[in-house]
Amino acid sequence: MQWWNDAVFYQIYPRSFQDSNGDGVGDLAGIESRLDYLAALGVDALWISPFFKSPMKDFGYDVSDYVSVDPLFGDMDGFKRLLSAAHRRNLRVVVDLVLNHTSDEHPWFREAQESRDSPKHDWYIWKPIPERGPRRPPNNWISLFELRSAWYENPASREWYLATFTRNQPEVNWRNPELREAMYGVVRAWLDLGVDGFRLDVATGYFKDELFRTNPFKPRLVPDLLQEHLYDRNRPEVHGIFRDLRRIADSYGGRVLIAEPHGQDRALAASCHGSAGDELHMAFNFEFLTRPWGAAAFRDSARRWYEALPPGAWPNFTLSNHDQPRHIHRYRRGAETEARARVAAAMLLTLRGTPFLYYGEEIGMGCVRLPRGALRDPLGIRTWPLSGFGRDPERTPMQWDASAGAGFTTGTPWLPVNPDHPVRNVAAQEGNPDSLLAFYKKLLALRRKTPALRSGDLEFLGEDPDVLAYRRTPAEAAETRKAGSDSRGPAVLVVLNFAGGRKTFALPEGGRVLAGTGRAVGTRVEGGTVGLAPCEVLILETEGRSR
Ligand code: NOJ
Repeated sequence: MQWWNDAVFYQIYPRSFQDSNGDGVGDLAGIESRLDYLAALGVDALWISPFFKSPMKDFGYDVSDYVSVDPLFGDMDGFKRLLSAAHRRNLRVVVDLVLNHTSDEHPWFREAQESRDSPKHDWYIWKPIPERGPRRPPNNWISLFELRSAWYENPASREWYLATFTRNQPEVNWRNPELREAMYGVVRAWLDLGVDGFRLDVATGYFKDELFRTNPFKPRLVPDLLQEHLYDRNRPEVHGIFRDLRRIADSYGGRVLIAEPHGQDRALAASCHGSAGDELHMAFNFEFLTRPWGAAAFRDSARRWYEALPPGAWPNFTLSNHDQPRHIHRYRRGAETEARARVAAAMLLTLRGTPFLYYGEEIGMGCVRLPRGALRDPLGIRTWPLSGFGRDPERTPMQWDASAGAGFTTGTPWLPVNPDHPVRNVAAQEGNPDSLLAFYKKLLALRRKTPALRSGDLEFLGEDPDVLAYRRTPAEAAETRKAGSDSRGPAVLVVLNFAGGRKTFALPEGGRVLAGTGRAVGTRVEGGTVGLAPCEVLILETEGRSR
């Protein structure tokens, strides 16, 4: 076991977490000021979305200087202060490296685009524009956030460059050894600063097809825009880079590499571990972000994910992030909405695998429809008035209190604060033992002190379409065996009623309540048929010693 196997990660979108200087945009000092909150919440590691120097065309995912802090967020000293303040509280910090593309304002690109003879020209991906005849782009690759061809004209060299997100994010050429070394230098620089690892943006996209073949048609609009991304990303050559990155990370020790693979493809995510386990430590499987509400849907998805992983690889789960509508919004259903959020939280925090929380989910922050004038996300602007594509609704400011700026800012927030913040905020929930926040804290504390939940094996119990149930049995770790008899701790039964009505469930054995929504902690529940309240969460410590 490494620290990240049983850690709970918390994703911070830095623009939206806490503003410290009244400019309406969150910053690093703001995050630092909230570390006590995060430590008390009970998470173990922070993943901070990009805060590097950037023209902010994709809000930091367009980097113009990799080893720097954008003045909007603070400076390098501020980052160092944040890192050591986090470490003092036993919170690890993972930064978000965007190595698939730079900003078009990065000095590398500026130099590369000057002429075909520029020493950095080959650091990017180019295709000549024909002198005569129609200016048809070289293939059908698309710019996902501009909904058009991914090839953009560069008049100075009479070529197209490739950019598959916005035009301001030219893709780098990982086949060029100098570019590769420059990127590895970036990785080392952050490791030297003491970060605990990286989330690697579009990691499976680093390589493009050498022959620039046209992608085949795929009958799925989201997220693939009717293409199977066979040639513009997900090429096998990427595994060589993953092995290099792993060697670099290993040479520092204790650092984690987490891939963001393209789309929702569990096999692709699983492949990031490498057949010899010598590549990335984890890769997101985004399937939970698109599951319909229901026990069967999540059980099938989790089972398929476990089965897809090669031996030794470790799963992870995430319900919300900065690219998708928040899960409380996706699964909303009138008065049942918050009860569903508790079921979802209990599942995320008790399944076998590393959970990733998204800021604000612990208080049930939702999504609101924003007026056209408030939109900031290029994809949201491009697809307006369609909803569900733009990413601003899931990026609204953290709701700390009931004040006008929600305790997020004293200025004008960069995105509107959700109008429910006077009632839904941290301050209100902190004083309430029945709040969603209190529920997350209980689950996080339980997980931390229960080896079966942190690292135990998992066995699904039954195939009920509404009730998701599993037994977590402590793993027979050598260290715990050494520590003496029976130190593995009890097995844990998790029973989650996804239905909005009462259900019965055949409990294979009795136990004592560890946590849940319907019964007092410590209450005994007999084995056999048990009646479950609507959306009940029931987490039991079994009586028999672990098997
Ligand atoms: C994936 C990130 O999660 C998303 O926010 C970003 O826009 C794209 N990669 C491009 O970097």
